[in-house]
Amino acid sequence: MISPKIEKALNQQVILEAESSQIYLAMASWAEVEGLNGIAEFLYTHSDEERVHMLKLLKFINERGGHGIVPTLKAPPHKYKGIRELFQEVLDHEIHVSDEINKMVDVCLKEKDYTTHNFLQWYVSEQIEEEALARKIMDKLKLIGDDRAGMYIFDRDITSLDGGQGPGKNGNK
Ligand code: FEO
Repeated sequence: MISPKIEKALNQQVILEAESSQIYLAMASWAEVEGLNGIAEFLYTHSDEERVHMLKLLKFINERGGHGIVPTLKAPPHKYKGIRELFQEVLDHEIHVSDEINKMVDVCLKEKDYTTHNFLQWYVSEQIEEEALARKIMDKLKLIGDDRAGMYIFDRDITSLDGGQGPGKNGNK
């Protein structure tokens, strides 16, 4: 059984994961309209995975005697200045998610909730992978600079940057 404090923290994380899914979905749609189909595919997949992260939390809360709450979400931005700005937002967002997960891990230790602490380790590993992937993408974009041919190749190859598995797979989704 989870404490009300842990339940509240987990439900906050449900909001964050659901928001992540919405943000990446809006980014994917923008990229698709811009004709960047590889980037769009990558972001659609990322959006799906964030939904799975949200669902996993929701089910865990319910299994542990709490109530997973499906949140109302604010609309994500619809437009981006460019690809670099978009992926910088992805990286910043993932760093924020990692910070929030770390805070939750800390709350679990303070509350002596070792079951939830154990459950959250999956998210800790996931965030390491997601941040690393976002940094790798930013490094590539810095290399490309304003080279349009480079961007064409980046769009074509982005889905294979992580070995073709899509973002954020740590093996036990
Ligand atoms: Fe599920 Fe990328 O945070």
